[in-house]
Amino acid sequence: MPFGTVSPTTPDCFHYDRHKGESMHTQTDLRHVIYALSDALDLVGIDDINHGKRVGIMAAECMRLYGARSHEINFMFDLGTLHDIGVSSTQTHRNLLREFDWEGSQEHCITGAALLQDFAALSEMAAPVLYHHTRWDKLVEQGVPEPVIWQANLILLADRVDVMTAPYYADSSMLEHASEIREQVQMCSGTYFAPELVKLFLATSKSEAFWLQLETHSIQRYLQDMLLQGPKSHADMSELRQLASIFAHIVDAKSVFTARHSQGVASLSRFLGQRMGVSPAHCDKIEIAGLLHDLGKLRIPDEILDKPGKLDSRERQIINTHSFETYQILRQIKGFEEITPWAAYHHEAPGGSGYPFHLMGETLPLEARILRVADIFQAMVQERPYRAGLTIEEVRDFMLDMAGQGKIDGDVVNAALCDLDETMRVALVV
Ligand SMILES: [Fe+2]
Ligand SMILES: [Fe+2]
Ligand SMILES: [Fe+2]
Repeated sequence: MPFGTVSPTTPDCFHYDRHKGESMHTQTDLRHVIYALSDALDLVGIDDINHGKRVGIMAAECMRLYGARSHEINFMFDLGTLHDIGVSSTQTHRNLLREFDWEGSQEHCITGAALLQDFAALSEMAAPVLYHHTRWDKLVEQGVPEPVIWQANLILLADRVDVMTAPYYADSSMLEHASEIREQVQMCSGTYFAPELVKLFLATSKSEAFWLQLETHSIQRYLQDMLLQGPKSHADMSELRQLASIFAHIVDAKSVFTARHSQGVASLSRFLGQRMGVSPAHCDKIEIAGLLHDLGKLRIPDEILDKPGKLDSRERQIINTHSFETYQILRQIKGFEEITPWAAYHHEAPGGSGYPFHLMGETLPLEARILRVADIFQAMVQERPYRAGLTIEEVRDFMLDMAGQGKIDGDVVNAALCDLDETMRVALVV
């Protein structure tokens, strides 16, 4: 069973001499970032937030029993955690969970493969992600290469087992239902699943431990073990930017209302940082914070995010949780100690009227204030399905009014208004 392995220029009008000449190196482990960001993917499940990790655990455990080498086990675990990288929509997640063979399942496979294929560190996952909802007999019929068939089909098997087991995690009754789930897998041998993989799964899932390690409190421990055992690979700034960009696409794809918003906020934050004399190292990080600032939106149900009318107070409360969710995901990442608050404070206002921490004044770093201005500016000038983007005059008045009320930083607003045509161009990523 062959498995594969896996120079800024600063206009004179706004030059703040902050962090000048500073040089920073982020010691960040790429797999650590991937695991943390995979939490964001799992948030699309709203209340069922460990799907990817459970699929990864099941696939890795099958590989372990098969006698695979550690890099192959790691590869299948990582593939499991990221297999649904093409799913942004809570409705798509629901459909994938409700039906054993949902007819709309191909779209997220194509999206996911496209996101992965250009990023060298993860490009080997593109093919198995593309085929992870294609049944085994069809993969063979289509002449898909062998390693990809095994990888994709093991993910499909683990994925469907997780769907069958999902109703039983909440009350820990998986063991009571294990034999019926195993029987259902057996019934799909030779059609949905490769007979060899079915045999391997049945052997692996014989033990109680197999099912118990899928419980929520066991998953974190498993994840830590995988991180300790796995290869260490230091992520450089360009890899972090690429990875952040992939996740920005996932967030932006969630709603037609917000297409390219994260990309625009990232470009504009970097641009404003440069205008204000923020050091190049901090500008790199502020761009990553911009790409990731709305990660927590993946947990917001589509019907709230896409609601064309005014939100009621409950819906507003739900949508306002997103920056705290962003904080919870990013704070796990060693090396993201600065990026995390910059991204997570994008709804904090200098006057203390923001959320969720109600920070004010000096506790808000300049970079966070920049990101907040970029977030609002981009949203206002971007054309949305329910309204046109604001014109230059309108956005100037709007931003000055917000600054006057203490809701956004006046100095950052002045930097944005300095050459407004250029600011608009950057915000709209044109
Ligand atoms: Fe999937
Ligand atoms: Fe899945
Ligand atoms: Fe945003």
